Amino acid sequence: MYLSRFLSIHALWVTVSSVMQPYPLVWGHYDLCKTQIYTEEGKVWDYMACQPESTDMTKYLKVKLDPPDITCGDPPETFCAMGNPYMCNNECDASTPELAHPPELMFDFEGRHPSTFWQSATWKEYPKPLQVNITLSWSKTIELTDNIVITFESGRPDQMILEKSLDYGRTWQPYQYYATDCLDAFHMDPKSVKDLSQHTVLEIICTEEYSTGYTTNSKIIHFEIKDRFAFFAGPRLRNMASLYGQLDTTKKLRDFFTVTDLRIRLLRPAVGEIFVDELHLARYFYAISDIKVRGRCKCNLHATVCVYDNSKLTCECEHNTTGPDCGKCKKNYQGRPWSPGSYLPIPKGTANTCIPSISSIGNCECFGHSNRCSYIDLLNTVICVSCKHNTRGQHCELCRLGYFRNASAQLDDENVCIECYCNPLGSIHDRCNGSGFCECKTGTTGPKCDECLPGNSWHYGCQPNVCDNELLHCQNGGTCHNNVRCLCPAAYTGILCEKLRCEEAGSCGSDSGQGAPPYGSPALLLLTTLLGTASPLVF
Ligand SMILES: *[C@@H]1O[C@H](CO)[C@@H](O)[C@H](O)[C@H]1NC(C)=O
Ligand SMILES: *[C@@H]1O[C@H](CO)[C@@H](O)[C@H](O)[C@H]1NC(C)=O
Ligand SMILES: *[C@@H]1O[C@H](CO)[C@@H](O)[C@H](O)[C@H]1NC(C)=O
Ligand SMILES: *[C@@H]1O[C@H](CO)[C@@H](O)[C@H](O)[C@H]1NC(C)=O
Repeated sequence: MYLSRFLSIHALWVTVSSVMQPYPLVWGHYDLCKTQIYTEEGKVWDYMACQPESTDMTKYLKVKLDPPDITCGDPPETFCAMGNPYMCNNECDASTPELAHPPELMFDFEGRHPSTFWQSATWKEYPKPLQVNITLSWSKTIELTDNIVITFESGRPDQMILEKSLDYGRTWQPYQYYATDCLDAFHMDPKSVKDLSQHTVLEIICTEEYSTGYTTNSKIIHFEIKDRFAFFAGPRLRNMASLYGQLDTTKKLRDFFTVTDLRIRLLRPAVGEIFVDELHLARYFYAISDIKVRGRCKCNLHATVCVYDNSKLTCECEHNTTGPDCGKCKKNYQGRPWSPGSYLPIPKGTANTCIPSISSIGNCECFGHSNRCSYIDLLNTVICVSCKHNTRGQHCELCRLGYFRNASAQLDDENVCIECYCNPLGSIHDRCNGSGFCECKTGTTGPKCDECLPGNSWHYGCQPNVCDNELLHCQNGGTCHNNVRCLCPAAYTGILCEKLRCEEAGSCGSDSGQGAPPYGSPALLLLTTLLGTASPLVF
């Protein structure tokens, strides 16, 4: 059966235009997972954070008593009337329906008829403590949305602990202590929820408010959810936005209101007097006529419907999530890590939908340059493998180094990448920029670096000129050869033929005719070797 009264609406997915789209009926209650909206691209789904309606959760629980045989009536016994401790001829008999008080009667409908109730055996074994554990299990995480209310048919117990579990009963934490005397029973100072504040709202307290014994008229015990909500949402819970905002950012607060199980530990029945009346132990027992627990399935803001099937609650997950609490992404939708929906931004929240896994994208776009994709676990992403046609990149959308994009070609054109053709002698490397320009060495220019700047000449790449016919003139009749050297008349030397050869040889002046032979110096030999022997002016 479905928990949500609005199942039919959710299942049909209300279609509304973006202009007319109303916010969810009660905004902030997140009761739609998606709507269809109109955009420039036509109709599209708009996904939102969503949660099931709050409902009576006692319909979906399993109850367990410890000790298991603690319910009265097996064997039949008599007990004293609630109001009158000296009228002790009431009967409990498990085998007679009208006289039986089984645990189910804590969760039945309490109409106008005399209330039905569960009742324990009496305190026959006094002074051995009369203790009962009542465990309520949902086998599902639920979020409490209203006070837990326990109505006792007998007096309210002198000592009791309400406990909760978040892990299906493996571990338990106290939720609240109840006693007529907190200090005596639990070594705690008595407090009431009203003594708390936003900052201490998660404090576990002992309260004496509900344990005033056997004689008072009130039979009810609360665990105050709403008073705690009110620290954020204001006294009449008008500002739920503020509460949702807090819940969104404070996991501890969310967890505080979340349970899988509750346990009521009845530790000492109402005695109402200082001493236990040992002659009338049939006065003392526990009896509970009603337990109220309102809440909703915890679906991590990914579902509005919770299904009760085979005695099990399960969220009907949206946003491509799955699991009893929508706590993970569906198979093939693990394209990014799962996360719960967010109440923020108010009022529609964020769906945090699961997106298709990379490996399931058969058409990871490679622009026709590859027909194989590979999932890279480390990066949680998919890439095209072995891009052809000189392309590269995750989607073969870039040109390999040494190539540039043909601006007038489509990305899926086989010729989209053009080789740079940088001149290997004139350029620093073989890469070019987006319009095919290479990076040139000093003195070099041109898109491909195959031209020389003025003052430079190509000689295995551009070299600065040694001589030229404009600025660097060869002197004393020398002539410039290929801009790399001056060819000098026999008597001159130097880069620009600016020196007399005899000066270099140290043989100028009066005795220039004798002494060292003019062409025999080692320097000259070196020079002739360097310039080559073909020069007609040297010999
Ligand atoms: C109730 O549960 C507590 C905690 O597990 C345990 O210590 C105690 O013995 C139980 N009481 C009964 C009556 O089973
Ligand atoms: C889940 O995935 C399917 C397939 O991509 C998509 O059509 C659908 O809208 C998704 N649902 C949600 C709620 O994101
Ligand atoms: C660039 O692409 C266009 C369109 O495909 C083509 O006509 C042109 O020849 C390409 N240019 C080069 C340099 O390959
Ligand atoms: C490439 O470099 C040239 C020369 O520096 C420049 O004019 C051109 O704008 C550059 N193109 C791009 C795409 O950067």
